[in-house]
Amino acid sequence: MSDSAFHYVDGVLHAEGVSAASLAEQFGTPLYVYSRDALTQAYRAYADACAGRNATVHVAVKANSNLAVLNVFARMGAGFDIVSSGELARVIAAGGRAEHTVFSGVGKSAAEMREGLEAGVKCFNVESIPELHALNEVAKSLGKKAPVSLRVNPDVDAKTHPYISTGLKSNKFGVAFSDARATYAQAQAMDHLDVVGIDCHIGSQITEISPYLDALDKLLELVGQIEADGMRIRHIDVGGGLGITYDDETPPAIGDFVTTLLDHIGKRGHGAREVYFEPGRSLVGNAGVLLTRVEYLKPGEEKNFAIVDAAMNDLARPAMYEAFHRIVPVVKRDAAAQTYDVVGPVCESGDWLGRDRELALVPGDLLAICSAGAYGFVMSSNYNTRPRAAEIMVDGERARLVREREEVKQLFAGESILPD
Ligand code: LLP
Repeated sequence: MSDSAFHYVDGVLHAEGVSAASLAEQFGTPLYVYSRDALTQAYRAYADACAGRNATVHVAVKANSNLAVLNVFARMGAGFDIVSSGELARVIAAGGRAEHTVFSGVGKSAAEMREGLEAGVKCFNVESIPELHALNEVAKSLGKKAPVSLRVNPDVDAKTHPYISTGLKSNKFGVAFSDARATYAQAQAMDHLDVVGIDCHIGSQITEISPYLDALDKLLELVGQIEADGMRIRHIDVGGGLGITYDDETPPAIGDFVTTLLDHIGKRGHGAREVYFEPGRSLVGNAGVLLTRVEYLKPGEEKNFAIVDAAMNDLARPAMYEAFHRIVPVVKRDAAAQTYDVVGPVCESGDWLGRDRELALVPGDLLAICSAGAYGFVMSSNYNTRPRAAEIMVDGERARLVREREEVKQLFAGESILPD
């Protein structure tokens, strides 16, 4: 978690100027807490490194799509990267602009394409020939030309978790590198498409720069070929994926990452092209924590369990990817620590949030699950008919509710029983 935004004051965890214990008291648990300052600092690190360099930041909405979070970025002039018309609606509602938004995703429906075109999105990142045809048809029906970029799969190993690696041949994403030139030629031949760029995204939680440079080299080679075929590639979208520190990872600093990529593109003679970045996790991941309360301590023969009120439906990453999140006490306790598996109340053995954690606990204690700002709330569900958590944004000394806690009756409000 961001050490400047989340820190201890007299043994009590604070989010900026507000005690996490008082937040839990006031808003209940489980509770997502975001720091405006941490969001701002992460965005500035990208924006400052891009300044004066013909490069722009498109916030990947999927990582955290709360309107208040998106609005913090929109106010700073961010563009956005979306993967559904739902995310487009959120961007607009949060004060973002369609003309600064790129529409990614491997399975856009015709309705989503129409909404994107009508709103005037900046570019569609297209991933297959059938999708090119579909977009061409939709654009024709609206009497428009759709700006397109092909997501090319550069077949590089981002050395990350297999579920979040996307740039390998075996992944469902992108157009195969060997087919890309011919696919561009097909796009060029379609009357209602306007080829404007090239795109890739090789994975997520990437902690080294070298896979990006390998991917870029392949992309730039292709750009030369495509332009020889008579198209003009105005922008290069390098995707997102920069990792964060959950435990002891040491990813490059945001500014160094941006500068290294831009310098690399410049050295290869492509400096005149606009470069898009699509970061998600590195903007929001360490700007959020999930607060939870210990319900029961359950000693066992092999393991001790701390059963807390947050679960896999609130934070799916441990269950889905065996992901590690640090878990720290909200109020430090001067007592002997024991080893616990921190688990939720959901009826699945996969419902764990942390394993083998050294903690000094009594029932009722509050814990903070760190680095929960990215792919946290957005991946939450109502499994076990559990209402989703509330979300709070802290700004200096103030805390604002930015999403109300769900109520059980909302969860089945759209359901009905058979009349006979
Ligand atoms: N652009 C595209 C096209 C993407 O598919 C993604 C993420 C991003 C940008 C942002 O990547 P980031 O900077 O956040 O790494 N649920 C997983 C992560 C899935 C990432 C999917 N794509 C997790 O919790 O680790």
